[in-house]
Amino acid sequence: MSLPTVELAKCRLRPWRAADADALVAAWADPEILQGSSPPEDRSVAAAMRWIASAEDRCERGLAVDLAVANLEDDEVVGEVGLSSIDQRRGAALIGWWVAADARGKGVATEAIDAFAAWALADGGLVALVAEISPDNVASLRVAENCGFQPLGPNAWVRKR
Ligand SMILES: CC(C)(COP(=O)(O)OP(=O)(O)OC[C@H]1O[C@@H](n2cnc3c(N)ncnc32)[C@H](O)[C@@H]1OP(=O)(O)O)[C@@H](O)C(=O)NCCC(=O)NCCS
Repeated sequence: MSLPTVELAKCRLRPWRAADADALVAAWADPEILQGSSPPEDRSVAAAMRWIASAEDRCERGLAVDLAVANLEDDEVVGEVGLSSIDQRRGAALIGWWVAADARGKGVATEAIDAFAAWALADGGLVALVAEISPDNVASLRVAENCGFQPLGPNAWVRKR
């Protein structure tokens, strides 16, 4: 897998860049994002720079695929979509996402995640994506439904090819 750029109607999926470090640090400081995803313990700008700098390597090694969700107008980061725990033998991975507070409620997550999932599940890619979502995360549950995920267990949703 290599990191793609995908143009959509409301946003763009693209590789992370060094200039995005401040947006990543801001996201890591958002209590809702902290609760819904697994940010690192070190959430400094330097740590964000390291995380961004190693994204291509993580992808090449099949460890993770992390893309920025950016505004079409100014290319500023408004969110993230990513794959982790990639199991090539089973063709499965965990999928995660967040959207910055001031960009929520406009359908950005739905559009970005639907497109990212379709890309990951395209021929030659994975066959199943699992999203771990707390039952009280109503917005994320709605996004999962919008994007064709089916309930798999108490905290898990799956979208298959
Ligand atoms: C979940 C999250 C990604 C949604 O981003 P978004 O861009 O606002 O999502 P969208 O606008 O595409 O869609 C949100 C959906 O949730 C619904 N929604 C939002 N808040 C809601 C609430 N409190 N109760 C019910 N539905 C709600 C919206 O109506 C919309 O559904 P619809 O398309 O059927 O109308 C964003 O809120 C977020 O990043 N939260 C914090 C991090 C997080 O939870 N990450 C996911 C971990 S599993």
